[in-house]
Amino acid sequence: MNATTAPIPFFSGAQSVRRDWPRLEARIREVAASGQFTSGPVTAELEAAVAERTGARHAIAVANGTDALVILLRAAGIGPGDEVIVPAYTFFATASAVLHVGAEPVLVDVLPGSYAMDPERAEAAVTERTKAIMPVHLFSQMADMETLRELSDRRGLLLLEDSAEGIDMRAGGIHAGLWGSGGVLSFFPTKTLGSLGDAGMLLTNDDDIAGHARRLRCHGQDTDGEYLYHEIGYNSRCDELQSAFLLHRLERLSEEIERRSELAARYDRALAPLAPQVTTPWMAPAKTPSNQVYYVYLIECDRRDELVAFLDAHGVGTEAYYPRPLTEQPVLAPLDGARHPVPVAAAASRRALALPLYPDLADEQADRVCALLHAFYGDQS
Ligand SMILES: Cc1ncc(COP(=O)(O)O)c(C=O)c1O
Repeated sequence: MNATTAPIPFFSGAQSVRRDWPRLEARIREVAASGQFTSGPVTAELEAAVAERTGARHAIAVANGTDALVILLRAAGIGPGDEVIVPAYTFFATASAVLHVGAEPVLVDVLPGSYAMDPERAEAAVTERTKAIMPVHLFSQMADMETLRELSDRRGLLLLEDSAEGIDMRAGGIHAGLWGSGGVLSFFPTKTLGSLGDAGMLLTNDDDIAGHARRLRCHGQDTDGEYLYHEIGYNSRCDELQSAFLLHRLERLSEEIERRSELAARYDRALAPLAPQVTTPWMAPAKTPSNQVYYVYLIECDRRDELVAFLDAHGVGTEAYYPRPLTEQPVLAPLDGARHPVPVAAAASRRALALPLYPDLADEQADRVCALLHAFYGDQS
């Protein structure tokens, strides 16, 4: 198989790991030799490094981004009887985390372009039970946080953020997750800062939330007394090996984000002539706009499912993020919180497609993906 026919996976980090292996191996050996394999000094070093990079007062490592959301919601005092307004266009964990703490997610529509919570739809969904709003920052830009913070202040609500995809995204100098009471990061392998497995982090500037979160991640154990429990928490630890890997990746983060931007610009240029059948990513207006960090390169396109099959037949992996709004998820649809119409989310879910975009992707591979899109729309439309 030559380079022009080799499959292009939707994601691969294998090449970077191979390139960096000597340094990674040294770090892994250090962890192995230390005898401390979880929640040790390397994880503390990672927490300090992420706190410094994001400006968070507290960065608390846990087992994955979903746990970070559950722990954040509990630590912020969300529980049974509360409603939390979340966007209907997001990964399932945004809503399932709310249900895990016994509260009810209320699903509202999003804005075109950012696919983030529409502040007007959110305000219309506020009831006397609403305790918090939790916008999500998806793909390459943040939600309109200034407008959402004004809303949460005006209505006396907590502002939490599902910033799982938001590493290095900032608006007005404030990192994703730190506009309100707290946010999270996911280090799932495909993420902009991905681990070699699963890991996640909670970010907050609030000392009380941080203290509570630290107890909750360790079964609820009182920090003053060993094996003393006043509440039921979780077992959500970040392994030292993941922390070592993430510390290494953190050193490369800026250059990797730069590479993601280069690839996105390459896609933008090559796909522009396919408008209006294909729409490339664009920045939605926001009171305080964020920078663009390409975790995902998401196009909207006509005949999306046919295109997926065509690309797949040519060995190109893609992901339909997200193939249905949360209001259409069988487990969520019967909930009262799924009552609001979500036309923007529904329309996007029929047209959205993420193309391969990761630091290991070569220019030639991106060009081949674009050539296939041209062939699909040129030859078949
Ligand atoms: C928006 C969003 N929320 C939550 C999560 C959950 O993170 P994790 O997969 O690390 O549990 C993810 C990532 O998968 C995500 O993209």
